Amino acid sequence: QRLELELESIEKGGYEHFMLKEIFEQPRSILDSMRGRMIAENNHLMMGGIREYENKFANAQRILIVACGTSWHAGLVAEYLIEDLARIPVEVEYASEFRYRNPIVNENDIVIAISQSGETADTLAAIELAKSKGATIFGVCNVVGSSIARATDAGAYTHAGPEIGVASTKAFTAQVTVLTLIAMMIGSKRGAIETSKLYELIAELEQIPAKVEQTLKLDKQIEEISAIYKDVTNFLYLGRGYNFPVALEGALKLKEISYIHAEGYPAAEMKHGPIALIDEHMPVVVIATKDSSYEKIVSNIQEVKARKGKVIAIVTEGDTTIPAMADHVIEIPETSEHLMPLLSVVPLQLLSYHIAVMRGCNVDQPRNLAKSVTVE
Ligand code: AGP
Repeated sequence: QRLELELESIEKGGYEHFMLKEIFEQPRSILDSMRGRMIAENNHLMMGGIREYENKFANAQRILIVACGTSWHAGLVAEYLIEDLARIPVEVEYASEFRYRNPIVNENDIVIAISQSGETADTLAAIELAKSKGATIFGVCNVVGSSIARATDAGAYTHAGPEIGVASTKAFTAQVTVLTLIAMMIGSKRGAIETSKLYELIAELEQIPAKVEQTLKLDKQIEEISAIYKDVTNFLYLGRGYNFPVALEGALKLKEISYIHAEGYPAAEMKHGPIALIDEHMPVVVIATKDSSYEKIVSNIQEVKARKGKVIAIVTEGDTTIPAMADHVIEIPETSEHLMPLLSVVPLQLLSYHIAVMRGCNVDQPRNLAKSVTVE
């Protein structure tokens, strides 16, 4: 028993929990997921797994993405990326729904299955269904040789390394990294993305590990904010555009490890219902970085403040407008909006981690949950 405990503490590498260690590993796991696939100096993109299917991807009429939980959120980010950069229509499906309805799938479709564990039963069953209809299946998995990796026609591994904490953190950013590379590759093959824009994105992506490192320095500040909100019973997360899936992910992280009820919404949907929830007891996390929907999200913050909601805003460094209205401001580095989820998700991971620790929850093994869900 003592030996086991000692071994575990060595595995945690000095961190109190696996989750915290994994959050802090992200600069490296993102770098590992792009290593050898992107050479920034000569603007080169190369992915072994995709090469054989490059034409198929480039000529696809449609891409379907199947996944569950956090991997599904990475799929939503991929939808924005692929549609924007490669101009191919994308549908993102919960694997569990996809397999039980009668989906239209044909031989021209490409199905991307995303899974950290590679063992999720619903995702595996969705793959088998799509395969039986003749679609090409591409996997984005973290665990080498896993069932999903073996069931796909081709794929690209995320090189996040083993993820032990039940709450997925570094796997998400690794998935988004790999999916960004895929979107850029198909976009350039199809001529859908201007060369100058592609080069700009490559240069920006190369800087992401350092910017994640910088974002992690906010840990102390986020811990202080967590102490203020640890006893609330509800949380709302809002984001627009590329930050909408991040809002969903932030809410999922909080509910699964702290057992606080949390919901994520695209900020503009607030007026269609959730706004009724807002009063002085409702903390609202707004991911409001400088991007094409910035002005809109500023008015969403005003709407929350007008109803006395408490706003915790994730903003781009140097922003002066939002700090004047929000209760708390977390400043993250600037980057292209296409890559922002890789940075904006980090403070949300830390917020849920600290709140869960302060509430005395079992962060690495939350109740009722398993790391890989091998039942339907
Ligand atoms: C994430 O924090 C969750 N524990 C869960 O939603 C997870 O992402 C989901 O079960 C999918 O797992 P997979 O990536 O291993 O397929």
